[in-house]
Order: sequence, then structure tokens, then C-alpha cells
Amino acid sequence: MVKIKIFIDSSIIKEIKEADAAGVLDGVTTNPSLIKKAVEEYKKGGKSINIEEYIKEILLTAKGRPVSLEVIGPDFKKMVREGKKLFKMFNPIAGNVYVKIPVNPSLEAGEDDFAGIKAIKELSGQNIPINCTLVFTPEQALLAAKAGANFVSPFAGRIDDHIRSSNNISFEKSDYFPADGIEKDGEILDDNGIISGVDLVAQIADLFESHSIKNTEVLAASIRNTRQAREAALVGADIATLPINVISDLLKHDKTREGMEKFMGDVVPEYRGLLED
Ligand code: E4P
Repeated sequence: MVKIKIFIDSSIIKEIKEADAAGVLDGVTTNPSLIKKAVEEYKKGGKSINIEEYIKEILLTAKGRPVSLEVIGPDFKKMVREGKKLFKMFNPIAGNVYVKIPVNPSLEAGEDDFAGIKAIKELSGQNIPINCTLVFTPEQALLAAKAGANFVSPFAGRIDDHIRSSNNISFEKSDYFPADGIEKDGEILDDNGIISGVDLVAQIADLFESHSIKNTEVLAASIRNTRQAREAALVGADIATLPINVISDLLKHDKTREGMEKFMGDVVPEYRGLLED
């Protein structure tokens, strides 16, 4: 059995169906931005959307595999209320809802930095599966695991974005960022000891291994290209959530296409005849 799971990072039903039909789908992650993209795309056709029915369709398309739905409230009470509501409303459809809780939703200094962790503890205590999101340090992942999260989601791509933008390095969102970091003025750039998104995933996987954390899976999120997906798998991610273009890119290589063209061109009539109906 292949241990690593592949989730699709999308709320677009056509994309979820495509990954499912390819036989590679183990789950789905959504977030408010991905829901916005799906709603906008849906409305482009001039149709109005019933979001409750739309989410139910996502859950049914996933056929029992985990689907993460995110809360939006930035405080403990709101997150718990919304988490319970999402679970009560949608889990009966296919039994596959994971509530996504930000590790720390506080937007300003002085707000409750523990709100996310407390919400994870409260909801997981009520047997609601949790995906802890917006994880950017191993220590956030550790506390989320201790609070009872089933998944922790390190945002690999966004750490890479952060390291580049805070060092005035221009980049495209899909650009590869080396797992072992980038050097500037003779120093490897880092964010509090994290040198790349893949390094963040690796450090969390190592930490969980050394402390025998078995009930929380490392879900590598914010993956922007195939090489980052491969490296996240190599350093021990249990799950990688990938946009549909990255999933299909996993299968591409110029030499595969070129080899195919050559084989097609070399088919002799005798061999073709053997294989025709
Ligand atoms: C999934 O759980 C995350 O919300 C998602 O991977 C974020 O990806 P982005 O950083 O490309 O928006």
C-alpha cells in the first residue's frame, strides 16, 4: 500500500471529479479563498449558487474521503460554534468532514493567541476531526498535535514566498524554491531557522517522529510545483494537498512524450493488426 496520501487543494467540483476519475484522490482541502474561486467560477455561467448544496456535492464527490472545511471566526467561541455547525450540517452527508482551524487566529497583538489551540481541544474532545491550518513553525504543529488535531497543515509555498519577499527576491508563485534553501550574501536565508517550505515539513515530521506523535498526520499544504510535492513526500509528509495542475504535472516529462511519439511512429502494420479489434 502507498503510504502517502494525495489530497486535491480545490473547491471546484469538476477538478475533484477529474482527480477522482484518475484514481489518485485520497481527500480534499478547501479554504475560504478556494471556495471564493469556485463560487466565482460557478457564477460566471450566470447561475446563482446554493452554497449548502454545493458543499454537499463536494462531500459526495469525495465519497467518504476526508474533506476539510474551514471556520472563519477569529475567536474561540466563534470557531467552536462554526466548527460544530459545519460538522453537524455536513458530516451526515458522507461522514467525511474535517474542520479546519487556524493554529492562531489572532489578528492583533493583545488578542487571544491560544484561541485556535483551545478550539482544537474543544472540538476534538467532541470527536470532530480537525485539520489545523496556517502552520508556519514546528512548534505550532507540536501544540496543535498536543491539542488533538488529526492533521497539521504546514504551508510550504507560503514560507518560500515569505523568505523571498522579506529578502526582496522577486518570484512567480509556481517557481521552485530549493529545499536546502537559497543563499544571499554568503548566508542561507531563513525564517526563524526554517530555510524552505520543504524544510518546515521535514522539521515537523522529525519532531513528530522523535516524540512518537502518532495521531496527527503531517499534511503538506500550499504546494506549488511537482518538485516541492516530491520533496515533501521524501521528507516524510503523510499527505500532500495539491492543486489539480500540480497533480497532472506529476505525470509529465518531455522524454515521456517524445518516447511515446517515437513508439507510435515505429508501429509496424503486423503489430497494429495484432492489436486491432
Ligand atoms: C490547504 O489546506 C491550504 O489552505 C492551501 O494549500 C493554501 O495554498 P496557497 O498558499 O497556495 O494559497
